Amino acid sequence: MNTLARVEDLHISFGGVAAASGISLTVEQGEFLALIGPNGAGKTTALRMVAGLLRPDRGRVFFGERDVTNLPAHARVRLGLGFTHQIVRPFYGFTTVENVMLAAGHHQTESPWRALASRSRAAAREKAQAILERIGLGAQAGQSPRALPLGQRKRLEVARALALDPKLLLLDEPLAGLSSHEATTMADLVRALSGQGITVVLVEHNLGEVLRVADRLVVLDAGKVLAEGLPKDVMARPDVRQAYTGVI
Ligand SMILES: Nc1ncnc2c1ncn2[C@@H]1O[C@H](COP(=O)(O)OP(=O)(O)O)[C@@H](O)[C@H]1O
Ligand SMILES: [Mg+2]
Repeated sequence: MNTLARVEDLHISFGGVAAASGISLTVEQGEFLALIGPNGAGKTTALRMVAGLLRPDRGRVFFGERDVTNLPAHARVRLGLGFTHQIVRPFYGFTTVENVMLAAGHHQTESPWRALASRSRAAAREKAQAILERIGLGAQAGQSPRALPLGQRKRLEVARALALDPKLLLLDEPLAGLSSHEATTMADLVRALSGQGITVVLVEHNLGEVLRVADRLVVLDAGKVLAEGLPKDVMARPDVRQAYTGVI
């Protein structure tokens, strides 16, 4: 397997509280990696350092062969590093398909609004529509995101990330708050993306779905990697069960 991304010895503290203390991990090309761990373990912080939304106090981030530690998030996006936020924030004044077009425009022109006005608008709309079809939102293209149930709004967030043609997709709790039916739909969808050449790192609390769909687990606890490996092996470890006691 080829390594697509890796982090080495990441450290970061917030006001003296260490949220990451020496996190090192590797993401292989094409894999579906789930990053799990109790609340406050440092999962979101780790994702944000990979995405370039937070600068580590110490340590390096590599994407492909390249050291991207000092690159801002928008430059990493251009290299193929996509991410979604835990809290979805669509533009409510635009339709669902326009939201995907705006995300793509942000990548290509730096001025997202131009994506709606440019001569390539028809092509952009076609591409955005195709992305919506891919994630099962084709029929909602003309609706406001306000009209979409949470599960669909979360899928729109994934569609917005897909508009940027990511090689690596970092997803922060895309199943949070969803009904079990919606969660299964989302987990299946992410699994399908990982089968379509997109490498996925999923942060998720819904262990049932994680164990069903992920190839490999990394468990974070108190800002450190506690365990990693095949889901069934990792979940059999007493220290992993201990870390979760009272949390799930
Ligand atoms: N911007 C911040 N300011 C202060 N503390 C933070 C900040 N972001 C995260 N933390 C702290 O860092 C730790 C890890 O948080 P986080 O990465 O959000 O955990 P997780 O996503 O695993 O629940 C927690 O103790 C959290 O309170
Ligand atoms: Mg989090």
